[in-house]
Amino acid sequence: MTKRVLTGDRPTGPLHLGHYFGTLRNRVRLQREGLDMIVIVADYQVLTDRDVAERLTETVDELLLDYLAVGLDPDTTTVFTHSAVPALNQLLLPFLSLVTVAELQRNPTVKDEVQHSRQSAVSGLMFTYPVHQAADILFCKGELVPVGQDQMPHIEITRTVARRFNQRYGPVFPVPDGLLSVAPLLPGTDGRKMSKSRGNAIALSSTPDETARLIKGATTDADRHITYDPERRPGVSGLVQLAALCLDRDPHEVADGIGDAGSAALKRTVTEAVNEFLAPMRELRTAYAKDLAFVRDVLHRGNARANEMAERTLREVRVAMGTTY
Ligand code: TRP
Repeated sequence: MTKRVLTGDRPTGPLHLGHYFGTLRNRVRLQREGLDMIVIVADYQVLTDRDVAERLTETVDELLLDYLAVGLDPDTTTVFTHSAVPALNQLLLPFLSLVTVAELQRNPTVKDEVQHSRQSAVSGLMFTYPVHQAADILFCKGELVPVGQDQMPHIEITRTVARRFNQRYGPVFPVPDGLLSVAPLLPGTDGRKMSKSRGNAIALSSTPDETARLIKGATTDADRHITYDPERRPGVSGLVQLAALCLDRDPHEVADGIGDAGSAALKRTVTEAVNEFLAPMRELRTAYAKDLAFVRDVLHRGNARANEMAERTLREVRVAMGTTY
């Protein structure tokens, strides 16, 4: 049987090159290899502490456009929003009974998010979202979950929930594996991790001019000789790496190619490389953006399939728990 892969994103805003090299590229590859690819748009998760929650419809449309632009196949990918799948959400209740409050409080990713949250009080949803994420993964019996390092604690909770459920009620769920992305963390235009909130991210939906402007303002240093040395020269090396990824070349070679020409030449090279790399995605995006009805239809089909899978699983859960009346 084909392996079922489940992964996804919070709809917090436009996806950027860090997402692309970190995970999107991998999704497209797994899909081309013929795996059953299910992509979740975790719209309940953004309610935990983001103000984007106010513009969700628009944000979700943009996210769908990003997915299609990078090459996820509208015919074979299942994209869905978990708020549209009641049976998935219902799994949260039995799952919550399988974890302790102490386990929820220990989750390092949640702790980190709580610390960086701009909200003064922490909501219950914030503490329980990793268990909700277990429902995201288990409702379709996902087996493989491609994620970044920060998501591994949630995969651990998911595995715990699956094991405990099976022990208590009988075998229903596979114990899924996280698949860590091998791509290096892509630095943004200031040498720190690329992230929308830091203003250092090149969005996949950005125009060539916006891209050029962002790269022009990137942090470099006074040494005219360009090298790839992430430890000592994070700014310059981040730019070199960006060009190298877009050109599919070795970063040291890219740096050698620029040599003593200085950071202005480096920035020109990076801008050209990024814009050329993004050109086909921009073209696809523009085409899909003209047909939002089609884009939403992809989501509606995805939601329909996700509902079928979730209802099937919930039936099994009810039988296992003895709650069929
Ligand atoms: N928490 C993930 C993130 O912030 C998004 C997500 C929600 C997810 N449900 C998921 C990822 C299930 C993988 C599997 O990026």
